[in-house]
Amino acid sequence: MGPPRIISLLFCIAAAITLSGLFAQQASPAASAFAGSAVCRTCHPNVALQFFRNPHNKSSVASNVKAENAGCEGCHGPAKAHVDAKGGKETIVAFSTLTPNQALDACLRCHAKDANRANIRRSNHSQANVVCTSCHSIHQSDSSKGLLAKKQADVCYGCHNDVRAQFSMPFKHRVNEGFMTCSDCHNPHGTNAPVWKTGRRPHLVDTGLQNEQACMKCHTDKRGPFLFEHAAVRVDGCETCHSPHGSTNARLLKRPVVFTVCLECHNGAGSFGRQSDGVATQSVSHNMADPRYRNCTTCHIRIHGSNSDRTFLR
Ligand code: HEC
Ligand code: HEC
Ligand code: HEC
Ligand code: HEC
Ligand code: HEC
Ligand code: HEC
Ligand code: HEC
Ligand code: HEC
Ligand code: HEC
Ligand code: HEC
Repeated sequence: MGPPRIISLLFCIAAAITLSGLFAQQASPAASAFAGSAVCRTCHPNVALQFFRNPHNKSSVASNVKAENAGCEGCHGPAKAHVDAKGGKETIVAFSTLTPNQALDACLRCHAKDANRANIRRSNHSQANVVCTSCHSIHQSDSSKGLLAKKQADVCYGCHNDVRAQFSMPFKHRVNEGFMTCSDCHNPHGTNAPVWKTGRRPHLVDTGLQNEQACMKCHTDKRGPFLFEHAAVRVDGCETCHSPHGSTNARLLKRPVVFTVCLECHNGAGSFGRQSDGVATQSVSHNMADPRYRNCTTCHIRIHGSNSDRTFLR
C-alpha cells in the first residue's frame, strides 16, 4: 500500500469518526449542542418554509422525540455551532460534501430497520454508488409519493434511458402512460429474490406473494399451484418466454411466433414425445408441415399450467 493510499485511508477513518461522532447512537451529543429547527428559518427561509409538508416534519412537532432525531437536526446533526458561526458548511452535516456512502449511512441511521431496506447495502444500486439521495430529494421533491426527485419513471430513466424505448414498443406494460411504475416489479432498494434456478441474477426484481415473482401480484391466475405445472413457468420463470418491459410481439413474447418459443426446449426431432430412455415416444404426431400445428397454444391453451390435463389442453 503506497503512501497516498494510506493517507486517503486515514482520511476516510477520520471522516468516519467525525460522522459517527455526529450520528453516534451510543454517545448522543449533549443537548446543548442542538439549536432546534425554528432558528434555521432566519437564514434558510426557502428550505424551512417548504418543510411543514415533509413527512420528516412530524418529528419536529412531536414532543417526545429526542433532539438528535428531531426536525432539521435529525439529518443535519447538532447545529448550535453552525448557528453560532452564522453558517458555513464545516459546522454542519452538509450533504453536498458527503460521499455516497456517508449519505447512505446518514439515512439508514433511521431507515435501516424497515424490512424492505435490509438488503440495501448489497444491492446493485448501493454497490454502484447509487444511494438514497440519487433518487430521493428531501427539499425539492417533485412527486406526491415517497419524496422522489421526479416522477418515478423519470427518476429511473435518468440513468436507464435504454429502458424507455422498451416501454414504447407496440406491446408493453403501460409504464410511460402512468398506469404502472417500475417499482411494481422492481425493488430499487434491493431484493430478496433468490437467483433463479437458471442462474440468472435477479435484476432487483421484487418478490410478491410469498416469495414468488412480482408478476403474480397482478397475474394471479398464472400463479397456481396447478395439478400439472409447466416446468418452464414454475422453474425458469416468466422471463423465459416473455419480455417483461415490452416487445414487438403480441403477448410480450420473446419471439414473433409461438412455436419458436416452444421449440427452444421441445425440439424432439419432429415429435414432441416425452423422452423415455432417450427415445421419443410417438403418442401423438405433431405434423409441423401442417400450419395448424404451428400455433401450439390453439390446442395447449392452458400453457401456464392446468388442473385437468397434463398436456395443458384444457
Ligand atoms: C430527512 C433528512 C433531512 C432533513 C430532516 C432536513 N434535511 Fe436539509 N438536506 C437533506 C439532504 C439529503 C440535502 C441535500 C440536497 C437534497 O438531496 O435535497 C439537504 C440540503 C439542505 C440544504 C442545502 C441545499 C438547499 O436546498 O439549499 C440546506 C440549507 C438544508 N438542507 C437545510 C435544512 C433545514 C433548515 C431543515 C429543517 C427545516 C432540513 N434541512 C431538514 C436532508 C435533510
Ligand atoms: C445565521 C444564519 C444561519 C442560520 C441561523 C443557519 N444557517 Fe445553515 N448555513 C448558513 C450559511 C451562510 C451557510 C453556508 C452556505 C454556503 O456555503 O453555500 C449554511 C449552510 C448550511 C448547510 C449546508 C448546505 C450544503 O451546502 O450542503 C446546511 C445543511 C445548513 N446550513 C443547515 C442549517 C440548519 C439545519 C439550521 C438550523 C439548525 C441552519 N442551517 C441555521 C447560515 C445559517
Ligand atoms: C431522524 C430519523 C430519520 C432520518 C435521519 C431520515 N429519515 Fe426519512 N423518515 C423518518 C420518519 C420518522 C419518516 C416518516 C415515517 C412515517 O410517516 O411513517 C420518514 C419518511 C421518509 C420517506 C417516506 C416519505 C413518504 O412520502 O412516505 C422517505 C422517502 C424518506 N424518509 C427518506 C429519507 C432519506 C433519503 C433520508 C436521508 C437523506 C432520510 N429519510 C433520513 C425518519 C428519518
Ligand atoms: C434507485 C432509486 C432509489 C434509491 C437509491 C433509494 N430509493 Fe427509496 N424509493 C425509491 C422509489 C422508486 C420508491 C417508491 C416511491 C413510491 O411509492 O412511488 C421509494 C420509496 C421509499 C420510501 C417510502 C416507501 C417505503 O418503501 O417505505 C422510503 C422511506 C425510502 N424510499 C427510503 C430510502 C432510503 C432511506 C434510501 C437509502 C438507504 C433509499 N430510499 C434509496 C427509489 C429509491
Ligand atoms: C412488469 C414488470 C416490470 C416493470 C414494470 C419494469 N420492469 Fe425492469 N425488469 C423486469 C424483469 C422481470 C427484469 C428481468 C429480465 C430478465 O431477467 O430477463 C427486468 C430487468 C430490468 C433491467 C435489467 C435488464 C435490462 O433490460 O437492462 C433494468 C435496468 C430495468 N429492468 C429497469 C426498469 C425500469 C427503469 C423500469 C421502469 C421505467 C422497469 N424496469 C419496469 C420487470 C419489470
Ligand atoms: C443515479 C443513477 C441511477 C438511478 C437514478 C437509478 N438507477 Fe438503476 N442502476 C444504476 C446503476 C449504476 C446500476 C448498476 C449497474 C448495472 O447493473 O447496470 C443500476 C442497476 C439497476 C438494476 C439491475 C440491473 C441488472 O442488470 O441487474 C435495475 C433493475 C435498476 N437499476 C432499476 C432501477 C429503477 C427501477 C430505478 C428507479 C426507481 C433506478 N434503477 C434508478 C443507476 C441508477
Ligand atoms: C401492477 C400489475 C402488474 C404486474 C406486477 C405485472 N403485470 Fe403484466 N399486465 C398488467 C396489465 C394491467 C396488463 C394489461 C396490458 C395493459 O396494461 O395494457 C398486463 C399485460 C401483460 C401481458 C400481455 C397480455 C396480453 O393480453 O397481451 C403479459 C404477457 C404480462 N403482462 C406478463 C407479465 C409478467 C411476465 C410480469 C412480471 C415480470 C408482469 N406481467 C407483471 C399488470 C401487471
Ligand atoms: C413456456 C413459456 C411461457 C412462460 C414461462 C410464461 N408464459 Fe405467459 N404466455 C405464454 C404464451 C405462449 C402466451 C400466449 C398464449 C396465446 O397465444 O394465447 C402467454 C400469454 C400470457 C398472458 C396473456 C394471456 C393470458 O393468458 O392472460 C399473460 C398475462 C401471461 N402470459 C403471463 C405470464 C406470467 C405472469 C408468467 C410467469 C408466471 C408467464 N406468463 C410465463 C408462454 C409463457
Ligand atoms: C424453457 C423451456 C421450455 C419452454 C420454452 C417450453 N416448455 Fe413445455 N415443458 C418444458 C419442460 C421442462 C416440461 C416438462 C417435461 C416433462 O415432464 O417431461 C414441459 C412440459 C410441456 C408439456 C407437457 C408434456 C408432458 O410430457 O406432460 C407440454 C404440452 C408443453 N410443455 C408444451 C409447451 C408449449 C406449447 C410451449 C410453447 C408455448 C412450451 N412447452 C415451452 C420446458 C419448456
Ligand atoms: C392441433 C392441436 C395441437 C397443436 C396445434 C399442438 N399440439 Fe401438442 N399435443 C396435442 C395433443 C392432442 C397431444 C397429446 C396429448 C396426450 O397424448 O395426452 C399433444 C402433446 C404434446 C406434448 C406432450 C407429448 C407427449 O408425448 O405426451 C408436447 C410437449 C406438445 N404437445 C408440444 C406442442 C408444441 C411445442 C406445439 C407447437 C409446435 C404443439 N404441441 C401443438 C395437440 C396439439
